[in-house]
Amino acid sequence: MSTDQEGRRSFALAITGASGAIYATRTMAALLERGCHLELVVSDYGRRLLRDELGDAASVDKLTEFLIARYGEGVRNGTTTLYSNKDLGAKIASGSQGCAGMVVVPCSMKTLAGIAHGLSRNLVERAADVMLKERRPLIIVPRETPMSLPQLKNMVLCAQAGAMIMPAMPAFYQMPKTLDDLAAFMAGKILSALGLSHDLYPAWE
Ligand SMILES: Cc1cc2nc3c(=O)[nH]c(=O)nc-3n(C[C@H](O)[C@H](O)[C@H](O)COP(=O)(O)O)c2cc1C
Repeated sequence: MSTDQEGRRSFALAITGASGAIYATRTMAALLERGCHLELVVSDYGRRLLRDELGDAASVDKLTEFLIARYGEGVRNGTTTLYSNKDLGAKIASGSQGCAGMVVVPCSMKTLAGIAHGLSRNLVERAADVMLKERRPLIIVPRETPMSLPQLKNMVLCAQAGAMIMPAMPAFYQMPKTLDDLAAFMAGKILSALGLSHDLYPAWE
């Protein structure tokens, strides 16, 4: 398992402009609480989504403080490095980077298309392409409804290339009471897919 110099497990996490910013913040908080290092990249519309859906307090430059205020001091256990989506020379653009996996949460249909076709137009798409070519875990959390045939085909292409398609479809059998319960369900699914244990939702009995 890849770790940084301090022995932290590193994951790339991308936030793009699909509805569901709360899935991204809950996933970030859960990984940071577990002491992970996050290589974070947020597209322009991902930045807008954070503000539109969670308020100005969740803008990228204040995101760590937002996570601590919303999810608690445990978020300080981990570390985050933020990259520009335009920086195709960033560490996570290379196959030599040490991330153990990558999550695109939420993933817009535009970014899904870019990943499906290997376009590498920006750092999110390039970092995802790197995970596929290096055969490392890539978890894509698409959100759109209804879906067109090209969108469905793009999910198939990504799955065939080795990505895990994990649509933002929280379950209701856990009897969620809050939006945070729904977000925690998706975050838990993502952590499980990355091989991390968690107690984000009760195990099904
Ligand atoms: C408020 C808002 C909500 C959006 N929701 C979605 C969505 O759920 N799914 C989607 O694919 N695109 C959605 N979009 C459109 C994308 O943000 C848009 O296609 C953008 O170009 C995606 O770019 P990105 O992948 O670089 O973030 C939304 C846009 C806005 C402003």
